[in-house]
Amino acid sequence: PKRIPHLFTDVLIIGAGIAGMRAALAIDPSLQVVVATKDQVYNSNSAWAQGGIAGVFDPYDDIANHAADTMTAGKGLCDSVVVDTVVQEASERILELVGMGARFDEVAGGGIALTQEGGHSHRRVVHALGDATGKEVMRALIDRVRALPNVDIWEKTFTIDLLTRDRECRGALVWNPNHGKTFVWAKQTILATGGAGRLFRETTNPDIATADGQAMAFRAGAVLRDMEFMQFHPTVLYIAGGSRHLVSEAVRGEGAYLRDCHGYRFMADYNPLLELAPRDDVSRAITRQMEKTRHHCVYLDLSHLPVQLVRERFPHISQVCSDFGLDLAKDQIPVRPGAHYMIGGLKTDLEARTSLPRLFAAGEVSSTGLHGANRLASNSLLEGLVFGLRAGRNASNAALSESDVFTAHTIDSSPRSPAENIEEPLRIDDLLNSLTSEMWRNVGIERNATDLLAALHQVDFWDRYVGRREFSTVAGWELQNMLLVARTVIHAAMKREETRGTHSRSDFPLTDPEQANHIELVRSS
Ligand code: SIN
Repeated sequence: PKRIPHLFTDVLIIGAGIAGMRAALAIDPSLQVVVATKDQVYNSNSAWAQGGIAGVFDPYDDIANHAADTMTAGKGLCDSVVVDTVVQEASERILELVGMGARFDEVAGGGIALTQEGGHSHRRVVHALGDATGKEVMRALIDRVRALPNVDIWEKTFTIDLLTRDRECRGALVWNPNHGKTFVWAKQTILATGGAGRLFRETTNPDIATADGQAMAFRAGAVLRDMEFMQFHPTVLYIAGGSRHLVSEAVRGEGAYLRDCHGYRFMADYNPLLELAPRDDVSRAITRQMEKTRHHCVYLDLSHLPVQLVRERFPHISQVCSDFGLDLAKDQIPVRPGAHYMIGGLKTDLEARTSLPRLFAAGEVSSTGLHGANRLASNSLLEGLVFGLRAGRNASNAALSESDVFTAHTIDSSPRSPAENIEEPLRIDDLLNSLTSEMWRNVGIERNATDLLAALHQVDFWDRYVGRREFSTVAGWELQNMLLVARTVIHAAMKREETRGTHSRSDFPLTDPEQANHIELVRSS
C-alpha cells in the first residue's frame, strides 16, 4: 500500500466554526498552526446562526441576570463558576469582534441593537444582517485568520481519527481528495468540530453536523458527558420537499404568536411565559399540540406585526419563505421542532482541557458546564468565543514550552481499525435515512424505556456490520461516527430516568432531585 506522508505542526485545530477560528487567533505568531475543516471554511453551524450572541449591554440589564437566566434554563446542571466566567466575559468578546470588523445591527441614532429570546429576562442578544448573525461574525473571523502567515487552513480535509500515544493526543490522521491521507503530528490539538444534529431526521443543522469530533474523541479514550441532552429547536420550517430551515427564536422575541391548525394560540395552556418560555418547554408544548390536533405542524403568525419591521428585521427568513410562496409578514408559517444543538460533548475544565492530555475542545463539541440540561438561546456563539480563546491560548502556551521533535510516534492502536475488509457494498444513504428516522422516532423529544431499548438494539445491529468495515469515503466515515455517537446518546438517555431540560421521559415525567448529576461515558478498553 501507498505510504502515508507525515507532517509536523505546533498546533492542530480541527474545525473552522467560531470556536476553531477564535482559537487560531489566540495562538502565538511564532507557532505553526494547521486548521483542518472537512468542508469549505464558510460551511459551519456557526455561519448559519441566526439569532445572535448574548451579552449584557443595556445599562438596565445586569450580568447577574444573564447568569441567573442561564442557570434557570439549565435546570440544575450548570456549573456556576463556568456560567459566571462566560457571562462576565461576554461584552468584551463581542466588542473584540467589532474591533475585528464585525458589523452588528444598530438602533436608529447609533448603539448596538438588542433583541429578546426565550428564557432571557432582558433584551440582550446582539445580531447582524438582521437574522444572519453567524454569517457576518464568521466573515470577520475568517478574514482575520486568513491574514495570519503562521496559520494554514486546509479545506475539504476530513479528520479520520485522533492519534494517541500512551493515552496522550499527538495529532490526527486526516484525508483530503487531492492528497489522500496524511499523519498530522501536533504538539497540541484543539477539537472544535461542532455538533450532531444530523443524527435526527428533523434538524436545523447543515449536512456536515455528523458528530465527528465526539466520535473520534470517544474512540481516543476521552470522556463524553451529558450526551442525552440534544436540544430541539421549537420552530423549524416544515415544508414538504424543502430543506428544514431554522426560523429564529428572535421571531417570537419580536412578538410572533404560535397557533395550532385551528388558529388557536395554545402556549397559554402550557406556560405563563407563552411563546417566550424556555426552548424545551416550547418544543414539548408544540409536540403535544400537534398530537392533540392530529396535525403535522403548528404555525408562526406575524400578521399582527408591522410588515416593514418583519421584512427589515428578518430578511433571510423572509427570503426563504418567499422561495416557497409564503409571506413571512402575512401568512401562517408552518413549523415544528427539530434537533438543533448538542449540549453534551467532550468534558472540559474551565481552561478548555479535555480528559485526554494535549487535547483541548471548544464550542458545540464540548461540554463545559455552561448549558446544563438546556441551553439558553444565543449562549452558544458566546461559549465558542470564550472557550475558543481559552483553548487557543492554553494550547499555544503549552506548545511554546515544548521543543521540536520530528518523530512519527508509534501510536496506540486505532479503535477504528477494521476487523475485516468486506466486499459487499453498502447503501450509505439508505442506512443514514434509517438511522435518522430511528433516532427521531425513538430518541426524539419524548422518550421512554421501551423505545430507547428498541433504538439501542437497532443501532447496535447496524453498528456491528458498519463498524468493522474499511471505508475510503467521507460518507462512510461519517456514518461510522454517527452510529457510534447515536449509541452514546441512547445509553445516556436510558440512564437518566427522569425528565430534565431537553431530556423528556414520558415514563419518568418528573425531575428527580437525586439525579441532578452528570452522566459521563468513556470507551471500555
Ligand atoms: C435562533 O435564532 O433561534 C437560534 C439561536 C440559538 O440557537 O441560540
